Amino acid sequence: MLKVTVINEIMKVGSTIPLRVTCSDFKQYILKGINKNVPTGKALFNEVVASRFAKLIGLDTPNTAIGILPESIITSSDIINLKKYGFKSGPCFLSEYLEGTSLRINPVTVKYISNIDIVPKLILFDVILMNTDREGNDGNWFHVKKGHKLIAIDHTNIFRIAQIWDKNTLEQDEVIPPKIVDEIKGPTYRLLVQEYEKKLKKNQHHLYQHQHLFSGIGRKIETITDDQIQNCFINIPQEWGISDEDSEAAAKFLKCQY
Ligand SMILES: Nc1ncnc2c1ncn2[C@@H]1O[C@H](COP(=O)(O)OP(=O)(O)O)[C@@H](O)[C@H]1O
Ligand SMILES: [Mg+2]
Repeated sequence: MLKVTVINEIMKVGSTIPLRVTCSDFKQYILKGINKNVPTGKALFNEVVASRFAKLIGLDTPNTAIGILPESIITSSDIINLKKYGFKSGPCFLSEYLEGTSLRINPVTVKYISNIDIVPKLILFDVILMNTDREGNDGNWFHVKKGHKLIAIDHTNIFRIAQIWDKNTLEQDEVIPPKIVDEIKGPTYRLLVQEYEKKLKKNQHHLYQHQHLFSGIGRKIETITDDQIQNCFINIPQEWGISDEDSEAAAKFLKCQY
């Protein structure tokens, strides 16, 4: 398992106190761990499950892993006093660092996204996982410098209520599904859909007439099996304190949603 070897900086953006770190494979990652703003492992569980689900549907996201933040790094780090932020040693979530910037999506910047075909997948992903943290949060639209790609990051706030969901809230959402989380109706998503449709109309006019926004991704999702979904929930560190019943409820919810 990867180990954190150096803490490089505390990220200026983000409410979970994300850190840029170097690990035992000499690569850099953005780390999320247990600290004063992330008191339970739910945020880390959310990130791991969302990242695995993203890979299943082929959504552009950074490579991720579960790593270890050693106690010796917390106590010896001289750049940032991690103790002050309440960091706990143990398993953490790692997202491979990509060069790029968070992107404020507006009518000008939207034209520079080279992979605008990400839009249907991204929307479906956010709807299925009930991600409530992209609309209105420029930090979570990430533009990779290489190839001008938009990628999906920050899946701490899925399951509608981020770090406080449990078996009961998910079972309620299954019975009375929030038809679509309100955020998805927001102006950023709308702008992306407009740009996507404009490009599709221009490039593939013949297809455009027979397609709706989710035709392609819909076909892909139909091929995903329950076992594949179940695998998104394996090998979650004990230290994150997710009860078996919450984990089972999350798996059941995801199977029900997709
Ligand atoms: N894999 C990554 N590569 C490069 N930068 C990243 C990566 N993941 C996150 N970031 C940067 O770090 C910031 C904070 O990360 P994020 O996951 O959004 O944390 P939070 O949940 O605290 O908002 C992001 O806005 C983005 O600028
Ligand atoms: Mg964020």
